[in-house]
Amino acid sequence: MNILITGGAGFIGSHVVRRFVKGYPNYNIYNLDALTYAGNLENLRDIEQYPNYTFLKGDILDEPFLNKIFVK
Ligand SMILES: NC(=O)c1ccc[n+]([C@@H]2O[C@H](COP(=O)([O-])OP(=O)(O)OC[C@H]3O[C@@H](n4cnc5c(N)ncnc54)[C@H](O)[C@@H]3O)[C@@H](O)[C@H]2O)c1
Repeated sequence: MNILITGGAGFIGSHVVRRFVKGYPNYNIYNLDALTYAGNLENLRDIEQYPNYTFLKGDILDEPFLNKIFVK
């Protein structure tokens, strides 16, 4: 099972990502974030090595990029 969370490097998103990564070890959690001024990967240092966590840098407005992710 794969779960895609957008804006996961921000204030609310980082808490959501952490909760899912720790609470659902059998799910692959993908954090898609454009890392604007509001995004900071420091928010997720403690979980970045978890095997079920993947960070994807990208923009949710980038349709070809999103389609590639969905296919994968
Ligand atoms: N310390 C605090 O109390 C604190 C800190 C930050 C924010 N807040 C509050 O939290 C609320 C907002 O939090 P939030 O987490 O919803 O927003 P946020 O602005 O904190 O984070 C949004 C995230 O989405 C990403 N993003 C933006 N556009 C994107 C795009 N096109 N594609 C991919 N990613 C994109 C950003 O890089 C960022 O990581 C506001 O009310 C704000 O005032 C409070």
